[in-house]
Amino acid sequence: MVSNAFLNVLDGQRTATPPVWMMRQAGRYLPEYRALREQAGSFMKLCFTPELAAEITLQPIRRFQFDGAILFSDILVIPHALGQTVRFEAGEGPRLDPLTNEHAIDRLPRMVDQAILSPIYQTVRQVKPQLDERTAFIGFCGAPWTVATYMIAGHGTSDQAPARIFAYEQPKAFAKLIDRLIENSVVYLEKQFEAGVEAVQLFDTWAGVLPPEEFRRWCIAPAAEIVSELRRKVPNARVIGFPRGAGHLLSEYVDGVPVNAVSVDWTADRTFIRERVQARVAVQGNLDPLALLVGGDALDRAVDVILHDFGKGRFIFNLGHGILPATPIAHVERMLHRVRGQ
Ligand code: CP3
Repeated sequence: MVSNAFLNVLDGQRTATPPVWMMRQAGRYLPEYRALREQAGSFMKLCFTPELAAEITLQPIRRFQFDGAILFSDILVIPHALGQTVRFEAGEGPRLDPLTNEHAIDRLPRMVDQAILSPIYQTVRQVKPQLDERTAFIGFCGAPWTVATYMIAGHGTSDQAPARIFAYEQPKAFAKLIDRLIENSVVYLEKQFEAGVEAVQLFDTWAGVLPPEEFRRWCIAPAAEIVSELRRKVPNARVIGFPRGAGHLLSEYVDGVPVNAVSVDWTADRTFIRERVQARVAVQGNLDPLALLVGGDALDRAVDVILHDFGKGRFIFNLGHGILPATPIAHVERMLHRVRGQ
């Protein structure tokens, strides 16, 4: 056993108190993040300046002593490194120059120039010596489907219809894009491990908009390939999958993708997850970010049912999706006390 509860759970143990961290813990609900963001001017500058990205990675650890520190970056650094223009407008989310046809996909370089991503590996190297052994270091990338939805549409939409339409109309061209993202994700994750992360999470935020056949083809198959290719280079690489909104297809996901854990969103049926998913891999989740925003009794009750339903197995406490920017810090503290039984 290593001395880190989070890694122990990924390695197959159950811990008396679940390790806890939050998706988007390095972000806008923290005044110290907002101050740095304002100073830097642009979000991409934060991602590509190791001193700033390292500082933001550590901000939530100093405040809350989470059991895991997630690298501060974004899933859209890969499209950026593939030469697509990526901007983040304040309050509007990401804007990319959309890929509208097969020709645009063919024009992307097959492999990313790693020099573009080197500041991110540098961030990992800067953070690593500043974490003590109780805090695991988590790297990540976007899963191919979710990254492709932004590359095709050029922005987020409520149902990612542009990418779904593209995949129905031109499945071969879409498969080329997915394959390119698979290959580049493997190298990107491998290099994060080389630089010092101890586990990685694969964010498939938009998995839940797909019908089952498409889910198998564009979410399960690419994730399976990424995990097995990655493990050829980094044996025993610890991987958490997050196919958000997968519902009952989550059991097929864990059958098909050799992950150590899955992150579960707040809409999941916890009994189904306990019986069909947690029996096979560790589970991470799944507090409704709105319960955390509201706080008080609603928060306490939501924490308690999750601890009750998942706490007897391999379990990492987290949110069902990212923390919302308006969430009061006192609510995060209240959640942590309750989870840790203090
Ligand atoms: O979790 C962390 O704290 C680590 C850093 C991290 C960010 N984004 C920072 C960020 C991680 C792991 C992500 C993942 C990410 N990025 C996903 C997958 C997970 C999810 O939340 O669904 C997606 C789909 C993106 C793409 C993205 N980045 C969007 C749609 C947006 C705008 C909407 C939003 O939530 O802000 C971003 C911007 C972004 N990524 C911010 C941060 C801190 C806010 C930027 C700002 O300061 O304005």
